[in-house]
Amino acid sequence: MTYTPAATRYDNMPYRRCGNSGLLLPPISLGLWQNFGSNDDPNNAIKMIQTAFDIGITHFDLANNYGPTPGAAETNFGNILKNDFANHRDEMIISTKAGYTMWDGPYGDWGSRKSLMASIDQSLHRMQLDYVDIFYSHRYDPNTPLVETMTALHDIVQQGKALYVGISNYPMEQLKETFTLLKRMHVRCVIYQGRYSMLDNNMEKEHIDFLGRKRTGISAFSPLAQGLLSDKYLNGIPKTSRARSNSISLNATTITDDVVKQLTALNDIAKQRNQTLAQMAISWLLKDQRTTTVLVGASTPNQITENVEALNNLTFSTEELEKIAALIPTAK
Ligand SMILES: NC(=O)c1ccc[n+]([C@@H]2O[C@H](COP(=O)([O-])OP(=O)(O)OC[C@H]3O[C@@H](n4cnc5c(N)ncnc54)[C@H](OP(=O)(O)O)[C@@H]3O)[C@@H](O)[C@H]2O)c1
Repeated sequence: MTYTPAATRYDNMPYRRCGNSGLLLPPISLGLWQNFGSNDDPNNAIKMIQTAFDIGITHFDLANNYGPTPGAAETNFGNILKNDFANHRDEMIISTKAGYTMWDGPYGDWGSRKSLMASIDQSLHRMQLDYVDIFYSHRYDPNTPLVETMTALHDIVQQGKALYVGISNYPMEQLKETFTLLKRMHVRCVIYQGRYSMLDNNMEKEHIDFLGRKRTGISAFSPLAQGLLSDKYLNGIPKTSRARSNSISLNATTITDDVVKQLTALNDIAKQRNQTLAQMAISWLLKDQRTTTVLVGASTPNQITENVEALNNLTFSTEELEKIAALIPTAK
C-alpha cells in the first residue's frame, strides 16, 4: 500500500536552528547506523522511517559504511525513499559521511580527496539521490593534510552533491583548524557530530563551548549510550537488544552489577519526572540549547515514539541535576 504521511506531522515538533545557519532541524533525529542493514527486517525499517516522519522527524543520518554489509543502510534507505518519499524529498534532511573503512584498498578509508570524492558519488548512487543535505568528514585523518580534506568538502558542495558541510569526531585542535580553513574557502561547517550522553562526555566541554561560540550546530550521537540509558537492562539482558548482539561497542560485559545499580537509580529520578529513563537521557542533552539535535537509533517504531515524548519535559530542577551528577560525576 502506498504510504501517505500523517497530515499532523508538523504540529508538535519544535524545530531548532542549527547554530546561526538557515537550517532548522528536529531536536530528535533518526540514525541508521544499526537495524537498517542487509540482515535486518526490511518491513521494520520501513515502519521506523514512516513513524519518524509522521511525527515530524525530518532528519535522517547515515554514513557510507552503515550496514552490515557496508553500504546496505544507504541502499535500503534509498529504496524506502524511492517507494514512499518520492514526493517528500524537499521535506527531508539526509546526511551521510565518509572517513571510516568502506572499500578495499588504500582509497576506501580516511580523508583523502580521492576517498571523499569517490565516496559521495557512491553514497548518492546507493541512495538514488542527486544530492545529500549534509556531508560529513567522519573522522580526522592524521596522515592527510587537513586542507586537502576541507577542499574536498568545499568542492563537493560546489558540485551540488551536498548542501552543507559537517565535521565529526575531530580532536579540538584540528576542529579549530577546520574552521579557519573552511572560512577561507567561504564554506562553513554547519554542524558538528560527536558522541555525547549522560554517561559519556566524549564530546568534551571544550568542543561544546567552541561550537557554541562559533554558533555552529551540535548533533549528539549515541544519546542513549546505545540503549544502556533505558529501562531495558534493569532486569537482565533481553534477547532482542544491542547488548545481546555482541557488538564490539556494547555487549554483555558492559552490563555489570554496578552499571545496573547506577541505571536503576537514574531510572528512579526519571520516574519522578514522569519520564522513562530513555526520555530523561534525551531531555538532559536537549536542556542545553546549543544541542541542535540528538541522533537516536532505534530497533522498533515504538522506541521512536517513546523517545520523541521526551520533548514534553526538557527542564530540570537544580535538585534533579544534582542527583544525576551525584550518580555520574562527569554529567555536568
Ligand atoms: N559520527 C559517528 O561516528 C557516529 C557513531 C555512532 C553513531 N552515530 C549516529 O548516531 C546514531 C545513533 O547512535 P546509536 O544507535 O548508538 O544511538 P542510541 O540512541 O544511543 O542507541 C540506540 C539503541 O538504543 C535502544 N533504544 C532506543 N530507544 C530506546 C527506548 N526508548 N527504550 C529502550 N531501548 C531503546 C535500541 O537498541 P536495542 O537494539 O537494544 O533495542 C537502539 O537501537 C546512529 O544511527 C548514527 O546515525 C554516529
